[in-house]
Amino acid sequence: MAVAELAPGVHYVGARHWDRRLFDELIPLPQGTSYNAYLIQGSEATALIDTVEPELAQELMDHLDELKVAKLDYVVANHAEQDHSGTLPQVLERYPEAKVVTNPKCKTFLEDHLHIDPERFLTRGDGETLSLGDRTLEFLIAPWVHWPETMLTYLQEDRILFPCDFLGSHLATSDIYADDEATVYEAAKRYYAEIMMPFRPSIKKHLKRLEGYDIDLIAPSHGPIHRRPEFILEAYREWSGDDLANVVVLPYVSMHGSTGVMVQHLVEALMKRGVGVKPFNLVKSDLGELAIALVDCATIVLASPTVSIGPHPAAAYAAVLVNVLRPRAKVAAIIGSYGWGGKMVEQVTGMLGNLRVELLEPVLARGLPKEADLAALDELADAILAKHRELGLID
Ligand code: FEO
Repeated sequence: MAVAELAPGVHYVGARHWDRRLFDELIPLPQGTSYNAYLIQGSEATALIDTVEPELAQELMDHLDELKVAKLDYVVANHAEQDHSGTLPQVLERYPEAKVVTNPKCKTFLEDHLHIDPERFLTRGDGETLSLGDRTLEFLIAPWVHWPETMLTYLQEDRILFPCDFLGSHLATSDIYADDEATVYEAAKRYYAEIMMPFRPSIKKHLKRLEGYDIDLIAPSHGPIHRRPEFILEAYREWSGDDLANVVVLPYVSMHGSTGVMVQHLVEALMKRGVGVKPFNLVKSDLGELAIALVDCATIVLASPTVSIGPHPAAAYAAVLVNVLRPRAKVAAIIGSYGWGGKMVEQVTGMLGNLRVELLEPVLARGLPKEADLAALDELADAILAKHRELGLID
């Protein structure tokens, strides 16, 4: 992505990572991502908002060359994660007079992760400002959106919010603005599900706080820029709100088909009762798609065969992931098959401690499910329907 002017003296100087396919060695990036950095040239001082993943450092430097930035006074570090802070050492070497502007907690993180000299920092607290002459930066400390040190920066005169990861999307595109809202909605929802969902209470609090700000542009650190801020703010209100969908998310794995038969039976039993269901074969599915489905589902049913005495490792991986993402589902159940016994249910239940769910009676079949096992799955479908009725999701 080339340099782009967002307002007089405010430029996009970040980098697109078109072919990156995995983040944190965990999160799939089917559409790549971007690391957005912004240059603000005030009448008396120049500030860079965030940097880029070190692998693309040269792109940031080329953009600063293109704008003939001979002197940099400040680098604002909204967040210490290295996809935004990782090029700080090179920027500080290139501009020896520049100070890193951040909050005290982020300062300690940057000292630990990047070994930045403590003398290079200028710290600011919540609501404090920094003057660039005719421009003023205001800092909003936003802990747990999504790390404890995260901060948003608001450019008061231009009404531009730089929220770092918050309100972003993993999407590499030549579009500078999020005008293709259908595409950005999907990418932003995936991003919310994978990164932000565990921090829903904090997200809601900060969405509320932003209502007090007049915002013309939201310029996040990943994905396109929002010139219709209400689009992404409303989407976040929807995802972080309390409304649930009449949907069961059903991650499963089956080795020899027995658990697969149970899953197929339960899927059809739920559909017959008017309950939506989204099955995910864990061996074949994109975990990002699973995360998206978890955003508003009312129920989660995890299906696994027993391997030795515990869950299949793919099911254990899914349970750990669901537990980390903390979806707001209200109901959960475990189903699966076994050969000679085991502790699959106890072990999976122990992996789901973060969830605030009512656990329904598990259904376990020894070997290929028999009539009684299929009847138990019908009873589970009845129980889920009853819960969804209690929640007001279905008549
Ligand atoms: Fe995009 Fe939390 O880093």
